Amino acid sequence: MKTIDVFTLFPEWFDWFRGQRHVANAERDGLELRTFGWRETTPLTGGQVDDAPYGGGAGMVLRVDVVDAALRAAYGEARAPTRVVLLAPSGRQFDERLASELAAEPHVALLCGRYEGVDERVRERLATDAISIGPYVLSGGELAAMVVADAVIRKLPGALGHAESALEESFSDALGGAPEYPHYTRPPTYRGWEVPEVLRSGDHEGVRRWRLEQSRERARRAAEERERAAAEDRTRRAEAGSG
Ligand code: ADE
Repeated sequence: MKTIDVFTLFPEWFDWFRGQRHVANAERDGLELRTFGWRETTPLTGGQVDDAPYGGGAGMVLRVDVVDAALRAAYGEARAPTRVVLLAPSGRQFDERLASELAAEPHVALLCGRYEGVDERVRERLATDAISIGPYVLSGGELAAMVVADAVIRKLPGALGHAESALEESFSDALGGAPEYPHYTRPPTYRGWEVPEVLRSGDHEGVRRWRLEQSRERARRAAEERERAAAEDRTRRAEAGSG
């Protein structure tokens, strides 16, 4: 990955993001992180970028001609990025695998919507992907774009400082896709709260086994919680449907 382009109504939000050490490290090592403002290239007067939805309804919709103009201004006819990602709550759920996929791309564009939504033709005609960072609705795609960019950037060589840091972390192949094991550091006892004995034993094989068990246990608990939440949702919907 060499280039991440973010298209947004608020390019200045990303100044803070760029100031973070791991992002700055990645930029020093060759990442190009660029921002483009929808208003800078809108073909409409007065900096307009949105419009009322056909068919009626609340809120405004980001226009397809505004998005197309921004992409053309940035790339010409060539559509240079290998992935053009629309951030949307209805998109493919973002996860570690998708982060790795994007990290392997030479050039990714992230399109941030605002308002009630984005004209569907953006997704159909201009984007290669739609990505959601979770089943909830944010006020816009900017925070989602930062989440995606952050997860991708920490996979780039050099961003973390310690190459091994990313190797055995949560959801990695090394842990069979499970969450990471718990970490402890000094002091060994604090207010009577003990660090597990095995971690202080010097028994490397014992540590390895303990960590794997903990990681699997966390995966089991997370799956249980997801199942319980899904069952609650089903009950609530059934009750709402029959009420
Ligand atoms: N825009 C608004 N909500 C979002 C979400 N959950 N994921 C990605 N983009 C969004």
